[in-house]
Amino acid sequence: MMEKRSSFTGKIGFVLAAAGSAVGLGNIWRFPYLAAKYGGGIFLLVYLILAVTFGFSLMCAEIALGRKTGKSAIGAFRALDKRFSFVGVVASIIPAIILPYYSVIGGWVTKYLAVFASGHVTEAANDGYFENFISKPFEPVGWFLLFIGLTALVVLLGVQKGVEKVSKVMMPVLIVLTVFVAVYSMFMPGALEGVKYYLLPDFSKFSATTVLAAMGQLFYSMSLAMGIMITYGSYMKKDVSLESSVRQIEVFDSAIAFLAGLMIIPAVFSFSGGDEQALGKGPGLMFVTLPKVFGGMKGGAVIGTVFFLLVLFAALTSSISLMETVVSIVRDKFGLKRGTTCLIVFVVSVALGIPSSLGFGVLDSVKLLGMSILDMFDFVSNSVLMPVVAFATCIFVGYVIKPQSLIDEVELTGEFKKKKLFTVIIKYVAPIFIVLILITSVLDTLGIMKI
Ligand code: PFF
Repeated sequence: MMEKRSSFTGKIGFVLAAAGSAVGLGNIWRFPYLAAKYGGGIFLLVYLILAVTFGFSLMCAEIALGRKTGKSAIGAFRALDKRFSFVGVVASIIPAIILPYYSVIGGWVTKYLAVFASGHVTEAANDGYFENFISKPFEPVGWFLLFIGLTALVVLLGVQKGVEKVSKVMMPVLIVLTVFVAVYSMFMPGALEGVKYYLLPDFSKFSATTVLAAMGQLFYSMSLAMGIMITYGSYMKKDVSLESSVRQIEVFDSAIAFLAGLMIIPAVFSFSGGDEQALGKGPGLMFVTLPKVFGGMKGGAVIGTVFFLLVLFAALTSSISLMETVVSIVRDKFGLKRGTTCLIVFVVSVALGIPSSLGFGVLDSVKLLGMSILDMFDFVSNSVLMPVVAFATCIFVGYVIKPQSLIDEVELTGEFKKKKLFTVIIKYVAPIFIVLILITSVLDTLGIMKI
């Protein structure tokens, strides 16, 4: 039997729910390490330009697609043109790939919360503490299981309403705390060089990989190109302004990412003088740098505890939306009960997540194209599948159903101010750009061509 499609109460409910999905580890953990690795200011600049053009247009398109059809990804594409059903299918695979490794990182956050809450601040600030932790065979897997177990429990009980209520309080507190830590970081000895590295673009560091990395990050951070925003759009009421909602989500998401970079990158300079190796640390960056910041701060244990609690919360609201999506797709497809589906998704995610976790220890020698298992999952979903889905979505909207059909949907509540930008991006700029970037960067990664 079909359950009645619920909808968000109003604009605030919608914006908060979408922002809860968008703001997560992508902003606080992933953005700073990519920005540090890909040249600081130049990455930030490329990211922000992409956010207000691509990000804005694609998010409008996805939410409008969902609201217009009242369906989630697979159904929405199928309802408008059967030949494009595969786009919905590919989009739906992406959250299933992300959820396991996202939860591994969520497990690391949970561990750090426990470490800070039990007052072991100085230990966590020691060199090698993080590497030692993730290379253990059992402990990180245990934290991963705890995190994904918690996610599954919420999805099973269906308490998202509660999550939404808590978000209303937690999100503003997260912003205040991030600003506080960012200001503190900026004034640490030697941090000014880091502020410059992060804010002043160095054009000699620009390459196709910078753009691809920024684009992958944008899709990830705004939960785009994986069907999520289509589903959220299907819950959106017709009398809520779509354009201004998208603007708000975008500003909120980018602001948190920006602040997270300001919190972490100057601190890396303060501790290491900004040498290449420290900047290119990758996924571990946040876990190595922030404990050192908190370790040197008066009251660092308390601030660190509150901070990791908020990050954990942001991560949970995102992982819940990831699992919820996977569960609802599997359910729709196989007509299973909610409980059974949750169990299946949980077991499969655990099976995929364990190798990602072990990839830093026991399975350290397993490298694909020089990437750890976790990085490989991350690369395939963010740098390959998401651009492919984004490309197909642009072709679909630009040439099959035509931009006007979505402009009409947006204009149900008044003029679509950026409709020219929307049309040009969706029809011309985005498709050409995505293909070029995708080809050059995949060739580069495979070592066929050096850019
Ligand atoms: N946007 C989330 C983040 O930045 O952490 C990650 C994410 C959550 C992606 C939920 C997709 C999703 F459905």
